[in-house]
Amino acid sequence: MKLTGTNVLVTGGGRGIGRYLVEQLDEAGANVFVLEYDENLCEELNQLASARVRAVQCDVANADAVDIAIQTVTEAGFDIDVLINNAGIIHSEPLVNMLSRTERAHSRDNWRKVMATDLDSVFFVTSRVVDHMLAKRKKGVVISISSIAANGNAGQSAYSAAKAGVNALTHTWAKELGPLGLRFIAIAPGFIDTPSTRAALSETMLAKLQQQVPLRRLGAMQAVSQAVHYAIENDYLTGSILEVDGGLVL
Ligand SMILES: NC(=O)c1ccc[n+]([C@@H]2O[C@H](COP(=O)([O-])OP(=O)(O)OC[C@H]3O[C@@H](n4cnc5c(N)ncnc54)[C@H](O)[C@@H]3O)[C@@H](O)[C@H]2O)c1
Repeated sequence: MKLTGTNVLVTGGGRGIGRYLVEQLDEAGANVFVLEYDENLCEELNQLASARVRAVQCDVANADAVDIAIQTVTEAGFDIDVLINNAGIIHSEPLVNMLSRTERAHSRDNWRKVMATDLDSVFFVTSRVVDHMLAKRKKGVVISISSIAANGNAGQSAYSAAKAGVNALTHTWAKELGPLGLRFIAIAPGFIDTPSTRAALSETMLAKLQQQVPLRRLGAMQAVSQAVHYAIENDYLTGSILEVDGGLVL
C-alpha cells in the first residue's frame, strides 16, 4: 500500500513515538486521524499540524469511548486504510517489593491499568476498525507498537504480559483475516530515545542501558517510523513481529 493519500488512524499520537509517526506520515502525504487521551495535545494537533492531520479526544482503554470515537472518525468520511495501535503506558514494578513495610505485592490496580491501556485498547480499537474495513472492502493494515519486553522483562510483569498479548493478537488476526486480505504487523522497539525515556531515566541509567545494546546506543524514533512505513508498503508482510532494538533481544 502506498503512503500518499492513505487514511491512517493513530492512537496516542499526541506526543512521543506516536507524535513522530503522525508527523512523518503527514510528510509522506498520508491523511491522519489521531485518537488521543490528552485534550491539550488534541488541541495542539488540531491547531498546529497540517490540514491532513485531525485529532479527537478518546481514552482507548474505555470500550464505550472507543465506539464513540470510531463513529466520529468514520462519520467524518474518514475510511480507515491503516490503524496504528500506539497508545500505551510503560510501567515498572516488582512482583513483590521486599523493601516495602506495607503492601509488598504488585498493585492490582496498576496491573489492571496497564492491561487496559496496553492490551484491552488494542482489542477494542482493532475490532471496531476491522469491522469498518471489511464493510468498506478495504485490504487494510493494522500495526501495533509492541515492545521487546514481550519476551519477559524483570520488573515489568504487567507491561511484559500486555505486550506479549499484543504479539499473540497480531499472530491470531494475521491467520484469521489474512484470507480476506487484511495484514497485521507488530513492531517491537527496544530502548527508544523519546522525551519520556529521557524524563524517566537518569543519565547514569541511560548509559548503563546502552551498554546492554549490541549497537551501544538508544534507537531514534525515526527507526520506528521507518519500520511503520515498511510495514504499510510491503504487501506480503503479515503476522511479523519486527524488532527495532539495536540487537537487544539477541
Ligand atoms: N519509548 C520507548 O522506549 C518504547 C519502547 C518500546 C515500546 N514503546 C511503546 O511505544 C508506544 C509509545 O510510547 P512512548 O514512549 O511514545 O510513550 P509516551 O508516553 O511518550 O506517549 C504515549 C501517548 O499515548 C497517549 N495515551 C496514553 N494512554 C492513552 C489512552 N488510554 N488513550 C489514548 N491515548 C493514550 C499519551 O497521552 C501520549 O500522547 C507505547 O505503546 C510503548 O509501550 C516505547
